[in-house]
Amino acid sequence: MKKYALILAAGKGTRMRTEKPKCAYPILKKPMISYIIENIEKSIIDETYVIVGHKREVLEEILGDRVKYAYQAEQLGTGHAVMSAAPVLGDKEGVTFILPGDMPLMEYPVMNKILRSHEEMGNDLTIVTMIMEYPKTYGRIVRDEYGTVTSIVEENDCNETQKQIKEVNSSVYVVNNKLLFEYVNKIQRNERKGEFYLTDIVALMHQSQKVNTFIVRDPLITMGVNDLYGVSIAEKYLRESINKGHMLSGVSMVNPETITVGHNAIIEEGVIIYPNSVILGNSVVKKGAIIGPNSEVNDSIIHEHAEIRHSIVKDSEVGAYTTVGPFAHLRNHAVIGTHNRIGNFVEVKNSTTDDNTKAAHLIYIGDAQVGKNVNFGCGSVTVNYDGVNKHKTIIGDDVFIGCNVNLVAPVEIGDNVFIAAGSTVTQNVPKGAMAIARNKQINKADYAKNLIKPKENTNGTTK
Ligand code: UD1
Ligand code: CA
Repeated sequence: MKKYALILAAGKGTRMRTEKPKCAYPILKKPMISYIIENIEKSIIDETYVIVGHKREVLEEILGDRVKYAYQAEQLGTGHAVMSAAPVLGDKEGVTFILPGDMPLMEYPVMNKILRSHEEMGNDLTIVTMIMEYPKTYGRIVRDEYGTVTSIVEENDCNETQKQIKEVNSSVYVVNNKLLFEYVNKIQRNERKGEFYLTDIVALMHQSQKVNTFIVRDPLITMGVNDLYGVSIAEKYLRESINKGHMLSGVSMVNPETITVGHNAIIEEGVIIYPNSVILGNSVVKKGAIIGPNSEVNDSIIHEHAEIRHSIVKDSEVGAYTTVGPFAHLRNHAVIGTHNRIGNFVEVKNSTTDDNTKAAHLIYIGDAQVGKNVNFGCGSVTVNYDGVNKHKTIIGDDVFIGCNVNLVAPVEIGDNVFIAAGSTVTQNVPKGAMAIARNKQINKADYAKNLIKPKENTNGTTK
């Protein structure tokens, strides 16, 4: 039997009070909808349809051609959203797994389990439900005296008895696709809200079709994110579950509740992560590396035994045994070799360094190709920008760059060069040379007294 996923993601998400449409809003810096799609791609589902409407271009930009789309021009409720998928999905044979686009925590093994249970039970409609101590904002599952589900009632339409029901609708359903479109067309507008509720399909189907529930044990995994408080709860849950996974596979985390590791980051065993650190995107942190405290690694590779302390590394690579920080910033394809030292207040941008190079304090390296065993003195700068264009600096091996040196690019420094402190280098320096490019010092004998005025003491004498 063919399996389709139908994701409802056309709503405005008014309760979020954010510019971004709800399903595009990031959870641990990744759009909510991407979690759902990634899990669906790993599940036994064959084809995925996403219903878009409000700010559809934002979602389409995120998902591209990974999914097919249906368009709901006007947001008239969840039932209406499903109706708008009729042109693309309506006449297909199979079962449809309906998911709201605001439910980022459900993982594919649960999806598979729900789908299999639907088939094994021979259901026409399976409603995924959960038990909530405080069920507010969720639709309640109403059963008759035999325990058969007869309807779902939204919080605002509940009478006092229904409000006490703790079993709620997760908004995840599995349904025979043909029956779905047959019954969804029969849904009437809800009088109070003027919307077509998908939940009303239960009351329509239960008498002539086999309607059943699948109760998930942990209500958090089917939690719907409706507002920014919900975002924080989802992030906390994800953070904990991701961190736990890493710790169980040999990553040490100090104060893990302050550490955020994104879904796609790969962290090898033997890594130590200190508090207030963030590792996001497609980052890889290899064996024995130390991250933090207070560091951010984004879309970067940190090799074995490298150390990143109080620093930011973005779109970059740090070689084995290299130390970065405190207070360093690597960005835009900084590729640092092994055994380097990138120290305090050093920024490296779009540059490569070979092994054993040191830039210990207050240095800017931009658009440079740097050899091995290079020493950058304090305050040295590659002057890469002329106000219009960026230029390249090439530095050979075994170069010593004195303090406060400006290397005005484009410029090339050969191997074994020594550059005197304070030089502003505008011409290439050949291999083995010493370059000095600053004014000669003049010492004027006994002249200082003309400039340093003696200070008066309080008793009138001078000192
Ligand atoms: C819905 C259910 C409720 C359930 C809860 C679980 C209905 C009427 N209510 O309520 O029973 O307990 O989910 O989280 O279904 N959407 C559209 N088009 C629309 C309206 C919504 O695509 O016209 C999408 C939204 O983008 C969202 C999803 O449907 O991803 C759910 O909508 P939402 O407004 O969050 O529904 P709830 O009020 O949470
Ligand atoms: Ca919701």
